[in-house]
Amino acid sequence: MSLDVVILAAGKGKRMLSKRPKVMHAVMGRPMIGHVVARARELNPGQVIVVTGHEKEAVEEYLKGKGTVFAVQEEQKGTAHALLTAEPFFSGGDILVLYGDVPLIEARTIEAFIEFFRKSQGIAFMTTEVEDPEGYGRMLMKGEEIEDIVEDVETTAEQKKIREINTGICMIRKDFLGLVKSVKADNRKGEYYLTDIVKVARKEAIIVKGYHHGVAQEVLGINTRRDLLEANLNMAARILDRHMQNGVTLVDTNVYIEDGVIIGKDTVILPGCSLSGATVIGEDVIMGPNVVIKDSVVGDGSVIEPFSSLDGVTMEQGVKVGPFARLRPQTVLKRGVKIGNFVEVKKSIIGEGTKASHLTYLGDAEIGSGVNVGAGTITCNYDGRKKHKTVIEDGVFVGSNTEIVAPVKIGKNAVIGAGTTVTLDVPEDALAVSRVKQKHVEGYGRRKK
Ligand code: UD1
Ligand code: CA
Repeated sequence: MSLDVVILAAGKGKRMLSKRPKVMHAVMGRPMIGHVVARARELNPGQVIVVTGHEKEAVEEYLKGKGTVFAVQEEQKGTAHALLTAEPFFSGGDILVLYGDVPLIEARTIEAFIEFFRKSQGIAFMTTEVEDPEGYGRMLMKGEEIEDIVEDVETTAEQKKIREINTGICMIRKDFLGLVKSVKADNRKGEYYLTDIVKVARKEAIIVKGYHHGVAQEVLGINTRRDLLEANLNMAARILDRHMQNGVTLVDTNVYIEDGVIIGKDTVILPGCSLSGATVIGEDVIMGPNVVIKDSVVGDGSVIEPFSSLDGVTMEQGVKVGPFARLRPQTVLKRGVKIGNFVEVKKSIIGEGTKASHLTYLGDAEIGSGVNVGAGTITCNYDGRKKHKTVIEDGVFVGSNTEIVAPVKIGKNAVIGAGTTVTLDVPEDALAVSRVKQKHVEGYGRRKK
């Protein structure tokens, strides 16, 4: 049976005290609305319609190309009004209403709810029980039947005590849209409450049903920064579980792994690691403690030692990095490369088996295979105005404390003597030394004393 999903996301989210729209705040690296849209897309619906309003540009910009259409609700006149704003985009299926600020909802919860809806007369709301129901619509139930949903501001003292509340998530048969249109704004807020569809339906002798979901935190909206933190913690735990089920070893829950990160089997992640963005980690990798990786690919069998930072790096298999390595965007490390402590690499390709083990800066460099880069080597890539390229061919030996002033090329199997400042291209197999010849002043030490 076909289905259209409407995601309400027009509200301001005042309590976040933010310049950004609430639904754009990230939960484990992805804006809340992104999680909801992903869940909606998984249902294979006719349309995913996002109702935008407040700060709509930011929301629409982010969702561009993610398979949604936008219904703009210029003025936020209530949830029923928001739903009707989406009407021009309906493809003709039944209507599932989700919320842009309920990012934790799981696919299986939505599926169970849809199944429940299919057995109803055509209108169903998802409910849950909370400790403190303040602010929520209260459910007046008779068994599974909803007699009324009373918005918080409309409740009597007695109704305030009801802890079964409306999550807002609901489903409506396509031919019952007329009932939504009959909802009036004759209430304290002067808003068109979608929940008033219950009153309208009852007049037509249509029974509206409530589906109780047991895990409240999964289906409640995020309103405050505290809620946002809890949502992050909740989803973080879920993500860790998923990786462990896939064969990843974790020895501590103190790791930050964003939603989109992929990790291969038998990889071990030690405490304090942070993996974010479009990061893909291979199999049999060992990393940490305290490694930070963003938007990077790490090949099978690599080892990333403590306090290393990788951003925009591509690593092939069997690479060793750190401790204390800093790898910056557009760095490519081929098979078996070793990057040691206090080495910074930026926008460089490092060939197979090449080693830069200590205290080095490699920027805008193309380095061949089997090269040894001595301690304290610096590619001087910047002349104050422009960046220049260094090329070091296969098998070169760069002695310690070498400056390589780009643009320059060091030919195959050349040897650079320690302490050299390379300013001219070095031919293949040549030895380049630029240091001043050592001289001795006899007796100097004695005289000084
Ligand atoms: C709504 C429900 C309430 C439920 C609660 C769950 C109604 C009338 N009430 O109350 O029963 O317990 O959610 O959190 O439905 N929105 C729009 N356009 C609008 C109004 C709202 O897009 O004109 C969006 C908001 O961005 C928000 C959601 O709909 O994501 C809920 O709106 P809000 O005004 O916060 O409703 P509540 O008073 O919380
Ligand atoms: Ca020097």
